[in-house]
Amino acid sequence: MRANAASYANKIGAPLELAGVADRSLKPLVSLGVTSKLITRDTESLILRDDVDIVVELFGGIEPARSLILKALAAGKDVVTANKALLAEHGEEVFREAGKHGLALGFEASVGGGVPIIRTLRDALAGDRQRALYGIVNGTCNSILTQMSEEGVEFKDALADAQEKGLAEKVNPDLDIEGHDSAHKLCLLVTLAFGTLLTPPQVYTEGITAITQADIAYARELGFTIKLLAIAKDDDGAIEARVHPTMLPARHLLASVGGAFNAIYIHGEALGWTMYSGLGAGQLPTATAVMADILEIARYRVADGARRAHALGLPVKLIRRASVRPMDDVVCEYYLRFAARDKPGVLGAIASVLGKRGISIASVIQKGRGAESTVPVIMRTHESPERNLKRALSEIRRRAIVDDAPAFIRIEEKL
Ligand SMILES: NC(=O)c1ccc[n+]([C@@H]2O[C@H](COP(=O)([O-])OP(=O)(O)OC[C@H]3O[C@@H](n4cnc5c(N)ncnc54)[C@H](OP(=O)(O)O)[C@@H]3O)[C@@H](O)[C@H]2O)c1
Repeated sequence: MRANAASYANKIGAPLELAGVADRSLKPLVSLGVTSKLITRDTESLILRDDVDIVVELFGGIEPARSLILKALAAGKDVVTANKALLAEHGEEVFREAGKHGLALGFEASVGGGVPIIRTLRDALAGDRQRALYGIVNGTCNSILTQMSEEGVEFKDALADAQEKGLAEKVNPDLDIEGHDSAHKLCLLVTLAFGTLLTPPQVYTEGITAITQADIAYARELGFTIKLLAIAKDDDGAIEARVHPTMLPARHLLASVGGAFNAIYIHGEALGWTMYSGLGAGQLPTATAVMADILEIARYRVADGARRAHALGLPVKLIRRASVRPMDDVVCEYYLRFAARDKPGVLGAIASVLGKRGISIASVIQKGRGAESTVPVIMRTHESPERNLKRALSEIRRRAIVDDAPAFIRIEEKL
C-alpha cells in the first residue's frame, strides 16, 4: 500500500491514509509505515473513530470478527474482509446489514486469494446466467495432490511436506484437507453465480485424506487427474453443491492447475466456458484483492457518498434460499477400486451386484496378485445416481468377496 500510495491517490482522486492497526501481537513495522502509534489492542475504539471510513477485517474466525463488522457497518463504515468462514456461516446477516446502510462489504480476498473471482461473478458476468462452476479453491489440497501425482508419495508424506513448507497448518490442517475451507468458498461462489443463499451444512463435503497413491496411478492409467473440486450446478433451481476429490480428464485445463494455484471454471449460458486462475493465498495475492476492495470503496466515498452496489450483486431480500439436491440423487460416473478375493467368480459377482442396481461398467482393469490374498480390481462405471452406487457397494462388502470397503471417486468428464 505504501509503495503504491501515489498511484492509489491518482486512481481514487484523493490520498488514502492508514488510520490504525488493531492487533494483539503485531510489533511496529517501521519500513511499512506501521509505527507503534498506529497499533492498538482496542479494536472497537479504532473502528468507531470519526476519521476511519473503511474497516478491513483480517482477524479471521467468527467472533469477534462478526460483531466488529456489524458494529462498523452500523457506525457507517464500509467494510472489507477476507473471512470466508464468517461470510459462509453468517453472510446473510452481515450482507443484510451492509445493504441496510447502503454500505460496501468487499470480500474479494475471501475466495481465490488474488484471483478476482468475486468481482467477475458479481459484475463482469452479471449479464449472463451461470449454469455450473468447478473450483480448485484450496491451495493446500492442490499442492498435496500435485506432489502425490508428480513425486509418487503417499498422502501423509505430502501433508508433512506441505506443513514443513508452510503450505498447510501445522497444528490443525483439517479445515483444508477435510474440504471445509473449499465448502466455505463454494457457498460464496454459489450465491454470486446463482443468486441463492447456501450455508456450509448444505454442501456435501469430503476431503482428500483417503486418496492413495494407487488411486492416483490408476487415474492416470484411465486418462484422469484427481483434484479436490468445489462443484456447483444450477439445474433450473435445483442446486448441486459438493466438495470432493474428483477425477477429471488429464487433458482438461483444470487438470493443469498445479501446486498452490487456484482456478475457477465457469459455464455461462451465453458466454460458454471461462476460467480464472492465479495464486489462491499468500500475503501479496491476498493484499492485492484487499486493496482492490479498498480502492473501489474509496472511489465511492470520493463520489460524494453514493449508495454502494449490492455486495452480492442484488439485495439480500431478493436472494432465494438454495434448494440443494440430495447427494443420493446426484448422478455421476464413478471410479471404483476393490481389493477382490483371489478366487474364481469374484469379478462376475461384483459385476452382477452393480448390474442389479442398474450400474453398467465402462471399463475394467485387473492387476496381478496384491500383497495378500486379494487382487486390485479397478472399474469405471457409466452414470448412475449415487444412491444406487452406495447400495451396490455395501452389498458387495457384505458378500465377503472383497477385503476392505471399496474405494470410489466421482468422475466429471463433461466439463
Ligand atoms: N493467509 C492467506 O493467504 C489468506 C488468504 C485469503 C483469506 N485469508 C483470510 O484472512 C483472514 C486472516 O488470515 P491470516 O492467515 O492472515 O491469519 P493470521 O496470520 O492468524 O493473522 C490474523 C492476525 O489477527 C490477529 N488477531 C486475531 N484475532 C484477534 C483479536 N481478537 N484481537 C486482536 N488481534 C487478533 C492475530 O493475532 P495472533 O497471532 O495473536 O492470533 C494475527 O496477528 C482469515 O479470515 C483468512 O481466512 C487469508
